[in-house]
Amino acid sequence: MHHRQLAPFPEGFLWGAASAAYQIEGGWNADGKGPSVWDVFSKQPGRTYQGSNGDVAVDHYHRYQEDVALMAEMGLMAYRFSISWPRIFPQGRGEANEGGLAFYERLIDALLAHGIEPVVTLYHWDAPQALMDEYGAWESRRIVDDFEHYCRALFTRFGAKVRYWITLNEQNIDTTRSFLLAKHPPAVRDRQRFYQANHHAFLANARAIRAFRQLVPGGKIGPTFCYCPAYAASSRPQDVVAAESAEEFTNHWWLDVYATGRYPASAWAWLVEHGQAPRIEGGDAELLAEAKPDFLGINYYYSQVFEDNALDGVGETDFNTSGQKGSTPVNGVPGLYKTTANPHLPTSNWDWAIDPDGLRITLRRVTSRYNLPVLITENGLGEFDQLSDDGKVHDGYRIDYLRHHLLACQQAISDGTKLMGYCAWSFTDLLSWLNGYQKRYGFVYVNRTETDPLDLARIRKDSFYWYRDVIASNGRKL
Ligand code: NOJ
Repeated sequence: MHHRQLAPFPEGFLWGAASAAYQIEGGWNADGKGPSVWDVFSKQPGRTYQGSNGDVAVDHYHRYQEDVALMAEMGLMAYRFSISWPRIFPQGRGEANEGGLAFYERLIDALLAHGIEPVVTLYHWDAPQALMDEYGAWESRRIVDDFEHYCRALFTRFGAKVRYWITLNEQNIDTTRSFLLAKHPPAVRDRQRFYQANHHAFLANARAIRAFRQLVPGGKIGPTFCYCPAYAASSRPQDVVAAESAEEFTNHWWLDVYATGRYPASAWAWLVEHGQAPRIEGGDAELLAEAKPDFLGINYYYSQVFEDNALDGVGETDFNTSGQKGSTPVNGVPGLYKTTANPHLPTSNWDWAIDPDGLRITLRRVTSRYNLPVLITENGLGEFDQLSDDGKVHDGYRIDYLRHHLLACQQAISDGTKLMGYCAWSFTDLLSWLNGYQKRYGFVYVNRTETDPLDLARIRKDSFYWYRDVIASNGRKL
């Protein structure tokens, strides 16, 4: 076999870590914040693991200085976090709430004081509940104007300090769970509503980019997408067609629109045939085509295998997130494809396939099809970490996971991907939307015991020191 030298990480590569407002902040009604859809949804019986919610989360709202000091100690170069829309607009629109803006200003200033580049996500799933009550949030076109109004307020306030912006986080996962799997609000199963809500989100993304060009001319903006590369279960042509359909319905459907403004042709034809295509209005196509992102944010966790799903087959879409294990998507569309396990790959304790090559494949596919720079906005391993008797957290398995995925990044760079940076998920442990606080991703352990669930002390894991050395060596010491 021919071995080639791996490309080094480029100078100025953004070594980062990521988080999201609802998963870390707490302070759910502090300083004038309005409720988000998650503040309401997580309190409905049976929605989340043991009824967990983000009222306190890891209390980052009150401990952000300590968290930023830990980032600085680690040498982090970029920190991706999201702004909570209902902190800025408690009613979803109207007058901005100064209390909310001031919190993010303090956070951004603290990061900049340590030379850490803020990477701001405008929307990470926590829509204002007021807009859900008023018009069903993403189900109405009215959200497009309200989202633009919200984005403009942030561009105006922070555009001079923040260079990197993410429009929407994982529109694909959020809308799939909201409208196909009944796991996120409004928790329904309806493919027509799914495609319509997605169309509104695409318009909102485009309007945000258009406003950004006007208000932050020197900055960079793009969406973040969760890419699960589709593999065929076998070389049977039927399975290959199934995998190609899955690639189109689960990846191209979003990325094509972000990058080119057009829906992929064969998926569109199928939806028209099945009466599920979204309603498009005059001007939509032009807006989508005009608003091109500067880069694509990619979240990568696992690959998926697909096989033929003849019409008599089983397989309505489902996510099993009820227990401690098994949140692997069992994903299928009758007549098109269904998922099956990959016999060649190990899985995590949440049954997610561990597949570093899948990240290389992702980056190659994205680069070949769209030829845009890529920022890895998430990648990481959720596990049941334990605080040992020596007071430390020995998460060698996480180091192993991250190391192999970073090697895959180097292979992708060698293959031609313009990789801007890598944000590991996550900086501290945080709330999993559906799995509570037991699933941990952080470099920093957040302590909670049965007697003191709100201790929330920060403890550096082994992976903290490992990543610090990776950053200091610009990836030469993996
Ligand atoms: C993607 C989401 O953006 C994030 O919020 C979530 O916690 C991680 N994936 C892990 O599932």
